This record gives sequence, structure tokens and C-alpha cells, in this order.
Amino acid sequence: MSLNKHNHESDIDNANLIEKNKPYSQRDISQAMQEATRMLDIINTPEDKLTQTDRNWVSANVADNFAHHVNKGFLQYRKSVTETSDFALTDWWGQGSILRDIQGREYIDMLGGFGLYTYGIRHPKIVAAAKAQMDRSPQYSQEMLDPLRGQLARVIAHLTPGDLQYGFFANSGTEAVDGAMKLAKLYTGRRGFISTTGGFHGKSLGALSLLGKSVYREPVMPLLGGVRHVPYGDADAVEQLLRIADSVGSMDVAAVVVEPVQGEAGAVVPPDDYWPRLREICTKYDVLLIADEVQTGFGRTGKIFGVDHWNVAPDIICFGKALGGGVVPMSGFFSNAKVWSVMEPNPFMHTTTTGGNPLACAAALAAIQVMLEEDLPKQAEEKGAYLIEKINRLVEKYPNILKQVRGKGLLLALVFHDSDVGYQVVSGLFKRHVLTAGTLNNASVVRIEPALNIPYELLDEMLVRLEATLEEVASQLNTSSTT
Ligand SMILES: Cc1ncc(COP(=O)(O)O)c(C=O)c1O
Repeated sequence: MSLNKHNHESDIDNANLIEKNKPYSQRDISQAMQEATRMLDIINTPEDKLTQTDRNWVSANVADNFAHHVNKGFLQYRKSVTETSDFALTDWWGQGSILRDIQGREYIDMLGGFGLYTYGIRHPKIVAAAKAQMDRSPQYSQEMLDPLRGQLARVIAHLTPGDLQYGFFANSGTEAVDGAMKLAKLYTGRRGFISTTGGFHGKSLGALSLLGKSVYREPVMPLLGGVRHVPYGDADAVEQLLRIADSVGSMDVAAVVVEPVQGEAGAVVPPDDYWPRLREICTKYDVLLIADEVQTGFGRTGKIFGVDHWNVAPDIICFGKALGGGVVPMSGFFSNAKVWSVMEPNPFMHTTTTGGNPLACAAALAAIQVMLEEDLPKQAEEKGAYLIEKINRLVEKYPNILKQVRGKGLLLALVFHDSDVGYQVVSGLFKRHVLTAGTLNNASVVRIEPALNIPYELLDEMLVRLEATLEEVASQLNTSSTT
């Protein structure tokens, strides 16, 4: 309500507010209890004992609940609603790279939760570690020293490039990026950042300031001041901005923030000299280099971290998604001791109640163990190369539909000639029970990001279904393939 509103109008507003405010005695408290209990009974029933009535109740309600209590806008975009004739496809059960909806329909998961399921769904070792920790203490007292957090930070320090040794844990990728930005500001005393067009760093207000897409930024302007965007992959553009700022005495850049390979933009791989040059330029101008590895970290691109492809050590590294092993939300940012020293005089400068909780740390330790035991970075590299080779044959066979396959490791993207064709392929795959992402709005680039331990048989099965889909789309478009 506006403060300088006329008194009479304020009285009317107050009356409306009182009328709308459901009195405590009239709230549907018994209904809340009954509905919570119904869902809990279902959750607590073993999968093979669930009745068809229970299953129908869940899938009959999901779209309605989204429409009335989450966001009905989602329903227009989810193929699980738009492309499903009876019950909406309802997220329910998963193992490895197979997802099964509550009605028992099985899908090959080629989306991998956009990097969340790097180690597959419900990896037994990660689940076991989380369960064991759950039975001991899932959260911290907030006063005693927490051993799992310390141990996880130590383990990660062994894996990070350079001397990134100190870290802070949070729950989501966007929090990790926000924390990294704060650290860079504290260390340099400057307020500005350079990031890239098409870059994705999260949607909280700090990370959103770096994000390189107007659709998410413009409606909530102003964001953080002093952020400039340059084309991804263009080290000269970064250098030019820094050179000018330096030469006119207005250096206000705390850090350059970049994804090693752009994920959300569609598996965009930069030129090979990009990261080494960014390192050189940032060192020259005394600006921090932040690698946003939220999507690329922990094996996804074929190395433990994306920057490892170019042997570059950033000053700060952010990660998330895969770190919680696909079981518990987990993220973090790490830096070297010199940069971190600004956090030490007042360690409460950056805190969170739940970040780095024992449950998440147990899952993360198990996820790292699994990554190393199964050599998942190597699996990503080999399976990525395998898919690129096979899909390139499809590019040759269906040149009017599929333009290109690109990416690194198992962060790949199919590039279509336009959004309509891309959408037809994605929905054709969906009908053939292969899950990928691509909305009507933007389906010209579709990410393929499966679990790194996905069996070759499933990759082959996906390729068969992809080819069948391309064949169908080709005949619908009345385009003749070149064979
Ligand atoms: C590179 C990158 N940074 C940050 C984020 C934000 O992570 P979250 O969605 O967990 O906040 C994402 C999410 O896709 C990402 O890909």
C-alpha cells in the first residue's frame, strides 16, 4: 500500500484485507492433515504394494496442484502434460538412467536433471551414505565443530586445480555463485564483474546480475551495478574492457566469471586458448578469475573440472548439482588461502544455516568416492566421443533437420535448423520414451546430458529411437534424406 495514499482509500484497503484474511477457525486444518496423511501413507507404502487407486490419485492431482498451488505456467511447457494423453507423466521412481512414472511408464533419462544426476539416479553407495548419516545426525547443532564439513572440504582441496584449498558449502548453484561474488568483492574492494553473453549462473539477484539473457534480467532491473557482458569465447573482449578501465584509472572489476563450457546456452565449447588467455589477462590486471563449474564440475565434461581441459587454475571455483550425488542438494565455492583470508577476521560475514549439513556432506563424500572408483570423468570422455561420432552420422543422413552435435564429455547438444523442427524431434523422442529437454519456446538446441555411468546399451537404444524420430520428422517435413 502506498504510504501517501488518501486516508479514505487506506480504510477501504484495510477492510478488503480483513475480509480476505481467512480467520484461523475457518482454515482447512483438518483437510490439510488428511491430505498430508494420504500422501505420507503412499510414500510409506512399498512400491510393489501401491494400489492402482493410490497411483491414480497421485497422477490425477499433480497437474491440478501445479495449476492451483505451484505455477500453472509450467503446465504449458512440460511435455509430461502437453504430450501425454491420459494421466500427466508423474515423476516418481528412478534408478541409474531409468525414470519410471507413477503409472509405470519407463523413460531413458538423457537429461540427467541438467547435471544433477551425474552419477545416475539413486546410486546405491550415495544413498547408503546418506541413509547412514540420516540415522546419526542429518543437520548441525550450529555450535559444535562439524567433522563432515571439514573432511569434505579437505577432500575437495585435493581435487581442485591450483591451490584452491578453502571452501564454503551451500545448497544451490546460485548460492555458490553469489558467495563467490561476495568473496571477490571483499578481497578486491571493487564492485564490478565481467561475465558472458548466453552465460547462466543462477537466478538469485547476485548471480542473475551475471546471467547473459535479457528475458530473465530485464523485468527485475536494476540488478547489481558494474556488471558488463562480453561475447563468450572472446578473450580479446575481456582484455579490452580491462585495458580501458586500467588506462583511464577506473578499474572497478572484482572478477571475470565464466563457465568452462556453457551449459544452459547449449554445450558451447570455447576456443582452446580461451581459458589460458583469461588466466593471463586476469593475472595481468589483478582481477580474480571465477570458474562457474556448477554444471561442468565433478566429471561432466571428461575431466574432474572443466578448466582441467586447459590446465588453468582459477582464483575461485563454484560447484553444485553433481556434488550432492543426485541425492541431497549441495553446492559450494572454494578459493586459495590468500583470497580466503578476507573471510577470516569475521567468519560470520557469510553464513547459512543449512549449507554443508552432514547429510549433504555424507552424500558428497560418497559421490566423490563413486566418481573416482568408477573413473567417471573417463567414462564421460569416452561416451561423449562415442555419441558425437554416431550422431554426426545422423547429421549427414538428415542434414535438413539436424545441423550439428557439439559439446565436451557428456555435456552435449543437438543443434536443429529451427525451434519447430527441434521441438518435433524432442517430442518424437518423448513419445519413444526418451527424456530430453527443449520447450516450444527454445528447442533449436537440445542438451543431451545423461548420467556418466549410463550403460552403452542405453546409449545405443537412445540412438535407435533418435534415428526413428528423425526418419518420422523427415517424412512429415516431406524432406528427403540424402541416402
Ligand atoms: C553454470 C551454472 N551456474 C549456476 C547454476 C545455478 O544452479 P542452481 O539452479 O542450483 O541454482 C546453473 C544451473 O543450471 C548452472 O548451469
